[in-house]
Amino acid sequence: MPEAAETPKKVIPLSEISKHSSRDDLWVAINGKVYNISKFVYEHPGGEEVLLDVAGKDATQEFEDVGHSEYAVEILDQYYVGEGNPEELKINEKPLGVAEFDSSSDSSSSAVKLFLIAAAIAAAAFYYTKVN
Ligand code: HEM
Repeated sequence: MPEAAETPKKVIPLSEISKHSSRDDLWVAINGKVYNISKFVYEHPGGEEVLLDVAGKDATQEFEDVGHSEYAVEILDQYYVGEGNPEELKINEKPLGVAEFDSSSDSSSSAVKLFLIAAAIAAAAFYYTKVN
């Protein structure tokens, strides 16, 4: 029996996603993944209308623009149906929901600054002891 891990992921072309564009059969692509949110349409805190606007389409930009919470990203998981075709869809480099918290590059550059300041103080102290 083949291992589950060997099963190739189902890739859903945009042409397939676009067939599901009605209120009762509503698929969207977000960040390269495809979701069947038919059961969520009525529950959406942002209303049905915005979801109908992106029905059967790539909703990555619209989803991001609202600045949805991490909770909203978690909700998506339960409606996952498969992977979209990366050549047809928008994929954000940073994972959804964590973009504004990624400060890793800032913290490393401030560590370098701190080191340079410490080195400058050490050099000044060394010079001071030499001239006096
Ligand atoms: C397809 C998956 C989506 C899920 C699971 C989802 C989920 C949610 C959740 C949980 C909230 C409450 C606030 C939060 O926790 O961020 C929310 C608010 C909102 N959503 Fe979505 N959303 C989706 C797609 C969209 C799209 C495509 C739009 C398009 C414009 C949109 C527009 C909004 C707006 C405007 C609000 C704010 C409502 C308010 O605070 O008055 N959502 N959504």
